[in-house]
Amino acid sequence: MDDLFKKLIAHSKEYGFIFPSSEIYDGLSAVYDYGQNGVELKNNIKKYWWDSMVLLHENIVGIDSAIFMHPDIWEASGHVGAFKDPLIDNKNSKKRYRADDLIEDYIEKLEAKIEKEISKAAKKFGDQFEEQKFRETNPRILANQKKIDKINERFVKAINNNDLVEIRQIIIDCEIADPVSGSREWTDVRQFNLMFDTKLGSVNEEANSIYLRPETAQGIFVNFLNVQKSGRMRIPFGIAQIGKVFRNEIVARQFIFRMREFEQMEMQFFIKPGEELKWFDYWKDKRMKWYKALVSDTSKLRFHDHDKLAHYANAATDIEFKYPIGFKEVEGIHSRTDFDLSQHQKFSGKKLQFYDPDTKESYTPYVVETSIGLDRMFLLILSNAYSEEKAPNAEGKLEDRVVLKIPAILAPVKLAVLPLVRKDGLPEKAHQIMDELKYEFNCQYEEKDSIGRRYRRQDAIGTPYCITVDHQTSMDDTVTIRYRDSMKQDRIPVSKVREIISEKVSYRNILKEIS
Ligand code: GAP
Repeated sequence: MDDLFKKLIAHSKEYGFIFPSSEIYDGLSAVYDYGQNGVELKNNIKKYWWDSMVLLHENIVGIDSAIFMHPDIWEASGHVGAFKDPLIDNKNSKKRYRADDLIEDYIEKLEAKIEKEISKAAKKFGDQFEEQKFRETNPRILANQKKIDKINERFVKAINNNDLVEIRQIIIDCEIADPVSGSREWTDVRQFNLMFDTKLGSVNEEANSIYLRPETAQGIFVNFLNVQKSGRMRIPFGIAQIGKVFRNEIVARQFIFRMREFEQMEMQFFIKPGEELKWFDYWKDKRMKWYKALVSDTSKLRFHDHDKLAHYANAATDIEFKYPIGFKEVEGIHSRTDFDLSQHQKFSGKKLQFYDPDTKESYTPYVVETSIGLDRMFLLILSNAYSEEKAPNAEGKLEDRVVLKIPAILAPVKLAVLPLVRKDGLPEKAHQIMDELKYEFNCQYEEKDSIGRRYRRQDAIGTPYCITVDHQTSMDDTVTIRYRDSMKQDRIPVSKVREIISEKVSYRNILKEIS
């Protein structure tokens, strides 16, 4: 695991962002709890997403559907039959892997070799370098590209045909070894359904088996007509939802990147058939803007268009972020045709159509879906924010500081109010300032330890502003405001604090930027 990733995990625990679930009982694999700072950051991400959907679009409304749903829903959606991952065990290490991940990682390694070759040549030839020509002529690149294409072709065919023997054969032919033990002794590949089931009803023998939902989307599909009719919605319109989902992941060793209980923020946009590619492009653009408003180094974000499309989809892309463990999916955008609504019509026997008053025709709408994992977004913000720097202490000597440069609107605590000393009426004055600001901002009062140590603690949780109350405050009603990222300090009147902070932490500005 990457060093930075390990540091993030340790930092998250030490500063109250994320704790392993049930830790005093030795934990529960791939389940995590959000601590006092984590829950604030998570709520702020939710608000940014929710407002960007529901406030910025007159034709998007939200719902909150139940986690338990009728079991036939998961038959209709295809989850009972097909929500499976191919798993493989290593006979020596006894470690379990997703067979498709092993193959994809192998392909990624070949791609990385090509990129390395290109960057070496780009350095060597400088301005003279022609990348396309180099790709088309360099024998090592051509050989690796040929390998990638061949594996990809076999892999896509095997996945589409559900050919587990061939998936294993690809692993053998590519000489893929267990990343932990290096062993190449593999078992057969088996399919494993990711849905958790449980019983509904009090008497176990008579109770019905139901599933914990593995996505929030189906709660939206089955409420399509309820929302459309009660809200008098006209196509195109969207329904947004944030909620918990559950997947019994085979491999779950990547902190909150792959969890067994996590949260999704999904939006289904119902449209007229034939208009799906226009809306797919529209949502790709909108969603990428949403991320770019938070991540200044935009080279860490990219689209990854799918080669392998599900049988019901006619376009699909992932938004990927460069996590410390590499470029990985944070969101999927899918054009799902009328698959879901048609399936629910078939299984429920209820008509799920839209009557267009202009053309006087009824039709089953198509859907473009945007689906983001809230916990992966949380990890994105944390990875992007974590920074180790040298900073001068009170005596001017350089020391290490760890700072979370979380965008101010998302920061768990917006400002800390710090009396310089615990006497001379400074704590009282600091409390007075807090009492004025606490209705709008999450403020923290701290009086223990030197001011330098208190600044470091606030840096470590990403507090963008520290207000220090000192002896001058009692004379002229001014305080110092310290900015987290630049560590610059300004003297300002107490009466200005609210205005300065409001401007920087307002959702209004960021929503305007992306709308
Ligand atoms: N309704 C479509 C859907 O559920 P998905 O690609 O399976 O699509 C959507 O999931 C998003 O949910 C992913 O882009 C990812 O951010 C998040 N996600 C999926 N599995 C996850 C897991 N085990 N742990 C954390 N987040 C996960």
